[in-house]
Amino acid sequence: MDGAYHPSEAAHALDRDCTTLSRHVLQQLQSFGPEAQDLSALMNRIALAGKLIARRLTNAGLLEAALGFTGETNVQGEAVKKMDVFANDVFISVFKQSGLVCRLASEEMENPYYIPENCPIGRYTLLYDPIDGSSNVDINLNVGSIFSIRRQEGDDLDQTGADLLQHGRGQLAAGYILYGPSTVLVYSIGRGVHAFTLDDSLGEFILASENIRVPEHGSNYSVNEGNFWQWDESIRDFIRYVHRHEGYSARYSGALVGDFHRILLQGGVFLYPGTTKKPDGKLRLLYETAPLAFLMEQAGGSASTGTQPILDVVPKEIHQRTPLVIGSTEDVKLVESFIQERLREKEYLTRTS
Ligand code: AHG
Ligand code: MN
Ligand code: MN
Repeated sequence: MDGAYHPSEAAHALDRDCTTLSRHVLQQLQSFGPEAQDLSALMNRIALAGKLIARRLTNAGLLEAALGFTGETNVQGEAVKKMDVFANDVFISVFKQSGLVCRLASEEMENPYYIPENCPIGRYTLLYDPIDGSSNVDINLNVGSIFSIRRQEGDDLDQTGADLLQHGRGQLAAGYILYGPSTVLVYSIGRGVHAFTLDDSLGEFILASENIRVPEHGSNYSVNEGNFWQWDESIRDFIRYVHRHEGYSARYSGALVGDFHRILLQGGVFLYPGTTKKPDGKLRLLYETAPLAFLMEQAGGSASTGTQPILDVVPKEIHQRTPLVIGSTEDVKLVESFIQERLREKEYLTRTS
């Protein structure tokens, strides 16, 4: 006996099972200071929200009043699903009595929601899309939740959340939860992109892959071609290009989070361009395109409106929409090249007419 301790063969696997989200945040920050602890606790609450929503989704078909529409229309002018409201309430509940988040800005609420007991001590704001891809909820296809965490600036005494109207490079953290065959949480605090898988037997999100890098190019192009008639000619040029060249696959699920996750792992490009009905596109900046752009840039990819990096866009109002072109740098550049070509043509025609 040499007196030294010899761990069991299971020690490595055990350590992996102990790499939970809260521990990973502290590892990332290499700090146990107050802000690191805050961020770790914030991510832990988001994980709890993911578990509660995943549980509801799994049993939805068996639960009275879990599926279908509420009959209400939200600030987006969209019919609200019961799951939208449930998930929205989950995010509110997990941050009550947390002392962390003073206010929440949600796709489902016109104005920021304040949690009085957390104000003003809670210096963080959660911006979120509680259920992304609502149209998939009743047909048991993948949906997601998207989140962004920002530091509150000032006291917001008039409770308008004016300090939230900033570009996306100030996000402290961003990520999403993908409710699919497994429940996956992907996040970044600006030090790479990391994925966790929910281990139901532990009730914990366990680290599955670190420092995810999006391929330079991929074969997927993800867009709702049903809007072709409503697009600018430049987007049609891109679609005609991929229709006529080998090596492209159309993949579109109707849920941004699932389509984004495919692009993140396999490469390619997702587009939701402006249309005649929605010139700024359908997707919302603060809790859809900006958090995903943060992740995509952290993974080595790109995200633009087609003409401007998403993370540079400064919104005028909380629910502002932006067109979105996001994915592998090469593929985003290809889409942008068609847009630039048409802009040059328009400028030329204006100059010479
Ligand atoms: P949400 O369910 O949060 O409103 O988001 C739906 C979004 C996005 O998830 C998806 O990419 C897009 O809407 C699909 O829109 P279309 O049905 O117009 O293609
Ligand atoms: Mn959405
Ligand atoms: Mn939504």
